Amino acid sequence: MKQVYRFMIMALAATLLTACSGGDSEEARLERTLTLMNDELDPATDGIWQHSGWELTEEGEVSLFPKTDEEWAAMAEAADEVIAVTRKLQSEEYSGGDEEWIAIAESVIVFAGEAKEAAIAQDEDGVFESGGDIYRACRACHQRYAPGMRQDG
Ligand code: HEC
Repeated sequence: MKQVYRFMIMALAATLLTACSGGDSEEARLERTLTLMNDELDPATDGIWQHSGWELTEEGEVSLFPKTDEEWAAMAEAADEVIAVTRKLQSEEYSGGDEEWIAIAESVIVFAGEAKEAAIAQDEDGVFESGGDIYRACRACHQRYAPGMRQDG
């Protein structure tokens, strides 16, 4: 009986250790990642994408690019936010220390940095190009780590 008791204590200690070190299951990590994507990364990136490009309407092509200094500044801020959230995505909590994950995320950071520079320069082509590069970097990670996901973003 004493033997069993000791075993149970050891099992409990192991569980607590896992919970504290953040070395939890892959499932929990992906769950957390999904929340970060939907609540933070996707809305931040929209601050770039939704104001980049042209929309075809009945009146013809309408530019989506920022028109005022404030709108350009808001885009630069959105790019900053993308960088901050993606840094979080690189942390142990989300990456589990996976070097490939961290490297793909780093490319998002690099392209978001370029988008920020372009927004500060109020450069439409630059914003459009780095927006496309960001999109491809997001997709690279989804293709690698979320193959079941709808592959349009
Ligand atoms: C380092 C890897 C990685 C990068 C980079 C990444 N994502 Fe994700 N993303 C994931 C994973 C993994 C999932 C799926 C999580 C799950 O459901 O298990 C996901 C899911 C999503 C979802 C949820 C889709 C759904 O089915 O609800 C959105 C939205 C999303 N990502 C947006 C983005 C955007 C926008 C970017 C680029 C700015 C990006 N992601 C970059 C790993 C990444």
